[in-house]
Amino acid sequence: MQQVLQFQAPVRLLHGPGSVEKVGPEARALGAKMLICTDRGVVAAGVLDPVLRSLKAADVEYAVFDEVQANPSVATAEKGLQLLREQGCGATMGVGGGSSMDTAKAIALWATNPGRLQEYEGADKVKNPCLPNIAVPTTAGTGSEVSAGLVLTDTDRKYKMSLRTTYNLPRVGILDPTLMAGLPAHVAAECGMDALTHAVEAYISTWASPITDGIALGAIRLVGENLRSFVARRTIVEAAGNMLWASTMGAMAFVWARLGIAHAMAHPLGGHFNLGHGLANAIVLPHVMRYNLIANPQKFADIAEALGENVTGMMPMTAAETAVKAVERLMADLEITQRLSDYGVKEESIPTLSEDSMNTGMASTSPRTIDVAAMAELYRQAL
Ligand SMILES: [Fe+2]
Repeated sequence: MQQVLQFQAPVRLLHGPGSVEKVGPEARALGAKMLICTDRGVVAAGVLDPVLRSLKAADVEYAVFDEVQANPSVATAEKGLQLLREQGCGATMGVGGGSSMDTAKAIALWATNPGRLQEYEGADKVKNPCLPNIAVPTTAGTGSEVSAGLVLTDTDRKYKMSLRTTYNLPRVGILDPTLMAGLPAHVAAECGMDALTHAVEAYISTWASPITDGIALGAIRLVGENLRSFVARRTIVEAAGNMLWASTMGAMAFVWARLGIAHAMAHPLGGHFNLGHGLANAIVLPHVMRYNLIANPQKFADIAEALGENVTGMMPMTAAETAVKAVERLMADLEITQRLSDYGVKEESIPTLSEDSMNTGMASTSPRTIDVAAMAELYRQAL
C-alpha cells in the first residue's frame, strides 16, 4: 500500500543563551495563570530561578508543581491536574526534561477532556482543544518541545502509553543552553543518545521523506560534532546550544517519519524496570542498527559519514557497519557501558518485554521487519 507522507513544523522556537528571559512575555501573552511542571532536581539546582524571575518581571501569576519523576505516571499527572484546578491555572509550562514537558502536556489535555486519561491513548482521540502549554527543555534529548505527543506510564499495566494530538503542541519552545550548565554528565550523555536514536530511527524509517531525511541527518551530524564536548563540560554554550538544536531536529524528524525497533524496545524497559529512556535507547541502539543494516546499507553509510567517518571507497555493507562502530565508539567515549542485566533484566523477562515491544506498534516502520522471536533475540544481545 502507498504511504502518504506528511510534514508540519508549527512550533515557534526561541534559541540561544538568554532566551529564558523571554518566558515571561511569552507566558503573559497567553493571559492565564501558569502551572509550572518540573522536578525537584531542577528546583534544587536553581534552574527554575531564571524562569520564575522572568515570569515575575512580566507580572505573570504561577503555581509550581515539582513532583514530576522519571517515567512520569498517570497518577502524577492527576496530582498536577488537582493543583491546576485548586490554583485556577489556565495554562501549563514544562521546565525540565521530557518527563516534565510531557506531564505539562498531559495536564493541559486532561483539564479540558473529561474521563480517564487512558481513553485518549493513541493518535487523535482527544476531542477538545487542550490548555496552551509552553516547553522549556533543560536537557537535550526528547525534543518534546516540537512534538504533539506525550508519553506517560500507566502503572497498572506497567505500560508506557503514548497520546498524540496536535492540540497539545507547545505554543512556544524556549531553548536556552545556559539552563543545562548544571546537568550531570551522565544525564547529558543519556539524553544525547535519545536524540541520536530519534534521528537514526527517523532516517532509516519506512516513513522517511526527503524533508525528514535532511533534518535527521543534520541532527546526527550535530550529535557527532557536539555530544562529546557537551558531556565533557556542560557550560560550553556552543556545544549545549547545538545539542538543543539536535534534540529539536531529531524530534521534528521522528514526529513525521516515526521511530523504530529501538524505541519499541526502550518503552517496555521503562514500564517494567523504570530504566531511563535515553539509557534504554542507548543500550539497544547498536544491536538494532546491526539488525537493520541489510535493509538499507546506503542510509547507514550516510549515518557513518554524518558521524565523521570516512567511508569513501568502501563496499556498501562495510560502510554501513562503520555507522554501528561509530555509535559504539561514541558510547564508549561517553562511558555508557551498561547492559540490561545491570538493571535487573533477566532472561525470563524477555518474553514479556518482547510482546510489549511488538504491541507498541513502533517497530512497524522499521526498515527490516521483525517478529517477536527476533525481538527477543535483540533483547538477549543487549542483556
Ligand atoms: Fe526517545
